[in-house]
Amino acid sequence: MPNVQRTQIGIIGAGPAGLVLSHLLYLHGIESVVLEIRSRHYVEERVRAGVLEQNTVDLLNQMGVGERMKRDGLVHYGIELRFNCQRHRIDFRELTGGKGITIYAQAEVLKDLNNARIATGGQVLFEVEDVSVAGLESPRPKICYQNQGSRCELHCDFIAGCDGFHGICRPSIPPGVLTEYERVYPFGWLGILAEAPPSSEELIYAYHERGFALLSMRTPHLSRLYIQCHPHEDIGSWSDERIWCELRARVATSNGWHLNEGPVLQKGITGMRSFVVEPMQYGRVFLAGDSAHIVPPTGAKGLNLAVSDVQILARGLDEYYKKGARQLLDHYSQICLRRVWKVQRFSWWMTSMLHRFPDENPFDCRRQLAELDYVTSSEAAAKSLAENYVGLPLD
Ligand code: APR
Ligand code: PHB
Repeated sequence: MPNVQRTQIGIIGAGPAGLVLSHLLYLHGIESVVLEIRSRHYVEERVRAGVLEQNTVDLLNQMGVGERMKRDGLVHYGIELRFNCQRHRIDFRELTGGKGITIYAQAEVLKDLNNARIATGGQVLFEVEDVSVAGLESPRPKICYQNQGSRCELHCDFIAGCDGFHGICRPSIPPGVLTEYERVYPFGWLGILAEAPPSSEELIYAYHERGFALLSMRTPHLSRLYIQCHPHEDIGSWSDERIWCELRARVATSNGWHLNEGPVLQKGITGMRSFVVEPMQYGRVFLAGDSAHIVPPTGAKGLNLAVSDVQILARGLDEYYKKGARQLLDHYSQICLRRVWKVQRFSWWMTSMLHRFPDENPFDCRRQLAELDYVTSSEAAAKSLAENYVGLPLD
């Protein structure tokens, strides 16, 4: 016989979506259990995103998990667009009435959330195995899994599928229910974490004939850098020196700007796609974050979109348990998708403007340069970029 546990919300996945949801529910007095297949160490060590929108920063502070972020996070009020060896700043503070972004690694956000969950008696079970769901259409769905060799069942009122793009929740929804929308890009990003002080105060997005480059950071001593590459590149063919050489070429300016270099601590290649599944709910399972959508990283939106999904889901669950109403829950997918598609548009637009495409022709390159010239010379165009980059209003 399996070990049977009962809770209100079963959450699959302890990434940003799952952990933010779990702590939000706790703050609303709603019980949950989080099931995660990886170890806590693995999840907290993964090198992932690093840009937090104002909404995400405000939420983490309201949740009481923002102390380290306030201490260590780097607040930025602009980015630089670099093309034709020229530098152009987009001033967020001026264009958005004072909003900015915070550079704070996703891994650090997860450490803060895990510590908060543990401090408040939260149940986050790491390294579980063979996770599956059943009864999605019934009022008593359940999650079956193995934990330390024992078969277990988690009986709940609702299931939150926060298990990422490769999780089991989306595929567990019956055929014919979901519609998938996807665009796979003909390039990827080679990313490095380098022991080198950031070469600039703010992020630099560079358009270059050799390909896109992005200069970001993690701390005053750690740089996070990316170059566009073929999606199926062998990372073994990219020596540290070859990477630095490519970066130097793509971010060079006409006035001899200097790129700080240093030991490469981590390197990897990720593919790029835009992906959305509709609807984001079925019966008593709700998909949130990467389990429902993927954005190309150019707009720095993946983590922030996961957080906004679960903010909406938490509101719906709070309404259900406090008022017995299902208005928000029944419209969860509709509410989320309105924001998801606007974020998809922005992420696609940033990607299309800044990357070289294998099937492009000279017209396309001139059009991209005209787009960059327009964004850096028109207040209206710059305002549009700025308000999307710092994060659209949640409601
Ligand atoms: N059972 C339990 N956990 C699972 C399963 C499963 N079958 N499959 C995947 N998981 C876990 C993964 O190990 C991961 O820790 O679900 C978690 C999903 O986390 P993310 O992939 O980080 O997705 P999400 O929480 O939606 O956050 C999106 O994270 O990956 C970045 O770029 C992404 O910034 C974006 C953000
Ligand atoms: C990062 O710091 O990892 C980062 C920043 C901006 C992006 C993507 C990634 O658009």
